[in-house]
Amino acid sequence: MRQPVLEILEAIGLRRTTGRLVEPGPGESELRKILEAAARAPDHGRCRPWRFIIVPKSGADGFGAVLESAYLQRCRRTGTPVDPTRRIRERERVRRTPTFLVVACCPRLDIPIPAHEQVAAVAAATENLLLAATAFGYGSKWATGPAATDSTVKRALGLGADDSIVGFVHLGSVAEDSAKPRAREEDISTVVQYWRRAS
Ligand SMILES: Cc1cc2nc3c(=O)[nH]c(=O)nc-3n(C[C@H](O)[C@H](O)[C@H](O)COP(=O)(O)O)c2cc1C
Repeated sequence: MRQPVLEILEAIGLRRTTGRLVEPGPGESELRKILEAAARAPDHGRCRPWRFIIVPKSGADGFGAVLESAYLQRCRRTGTPVDPTRRIRERERVRRTPTFLVVACCPRLDIPIPAHEQVAAVAAATENLLLAATAFGYGSKWATGPAATDSTVKRALGLGADDSIVGFVHLGSVAEDSAKPRAREEDISTVVQYWRRAS
């Protein structure tokens, strides 16, 4: 198991969406630690609304077929012509990713914590997951797109109508020939302000 070597601020600075991921993805014990970090997210009411559905290599073609078929159904439903490149991309999406998992929100509706707060907790868990993967030296991508709200895809994952897919998470190694990630400076001058009583 690789040791996490990055401090938290370093991991935050280095995390970035990596389009092309190569083998290997995190090993079993690394993935476990990454998911434990995800499940440490703040969670109002401690309702643990997150689910981490790992699609194993043996399921890559099967889940790829679900994504492809859902894409074709969406095209049919909306009268959009099928884009052959997109169709192949949907089918191959999981197979091309070293580690692919779905982060879902299964909100508890029997408690007074609003569903949107439970989704917020799952989004926090997803970021924890990406940061932990970064700390282990892996690249990552959080994706959504139309498949994330597709009922065929949700059903295939065992999710119900009240559940939502918060992200398809891709993890793997960053290719040697990719640009080395550099900590990025973020300009926060336009998004931070001090509150003042309105006059
Ligand atoms: C809820 C959510 C959904 C996203 N969906 C996609 C997606 O479908 N495809 C994609 O390439 N990136 C997706 N991203 C990643 C963002 O595009 C990315 O974080 C943004 O461009 C900033 O780049 P960085 O992650 O490298 O900082 C998503 C991010 C979030 C938080």
